[in-house]
Amino acid sequence: MAVEKFTLRRATQRDADILAYQRREMFIDMKTYSRKEAELGDREYIRWVKEKMKSGKLTGFLVENSEKNIVAGGCLWLREKQPRPSAKKKDVPYLLSVHTERAYRGKGLATLIVKESIKLAKKLGYPRVELHASKQGEGVYRRLGFERTNEMVYKFKS
Ligand SMILES: CC(C)(COP(=O)(O)OP(=O)(O)OC[C@H]1O[C@@H](n2cnc3c(N)ncnc32)[C@H](O)[C@@H]1OP(=O)(O)O)[C@@H](O)C(=O)NCCC(=O)NCCS
Repeated sequence: MAVEKFTLRRATQRDADILAYQRREMFIDMKTYSRKEAELGDREYIRWVKEKMKSGKLTGFLVENSEKNIVAGGCLWLREKQPRPSAKKKDVPYLLSVHTERAYRGKGLATLIVKESIKLAKKLGYPRVELHASKQGEGVYRRLGFERTNEMVYKFKS
């Protein structure tokens, strides 16, 4: 059987819909939201992602299979940070919306996207990359050297 060839490319404004699709499917797979709830976020996310891409604050990475179908993706967002002594940068690279189509999982595509994001952050002179890991994603990130931090959260009871 021939080995399938994958191509990694950067997303453009025209890919905003697919980036929103990947984010929505990620939330559904993570069971964070139902499909109906997740779909409600699409319009706002498309607007946000386009704006961030335009201002150079977000880079989307997409993986295409040999038929040019997009099968995986993820975004590196330069997220604004509060000032901190000795910090040379005003933002921090944050990896979000990493998603691989089910039929294409376990082939190293998310790994490829994460590696490419790390490479870009390094090239831009940042000292770190941050993210929030899902259960499924944790192994991928850990293998590449990501560590747990001391972040905490307080949640209001609804
Ligand atoms: C998490 C997710 C993005 C991983 O995508 P993926 O493309 O399958 O990831 P990879 O193939 O790089 O790695 C997955 C596994 O395959 C293994 N693998 C990597 N390259 C491989 C290869 N060439 N051949 C076989 N296995 C491989 C990895 O070691 C990893 O093992 P693990 O599951 O034990 O950790 C995908 O499962 C997904 O979309 N899940 C739902 C959404 C989600 O949770 N996204 C992450 C948000 S933080």
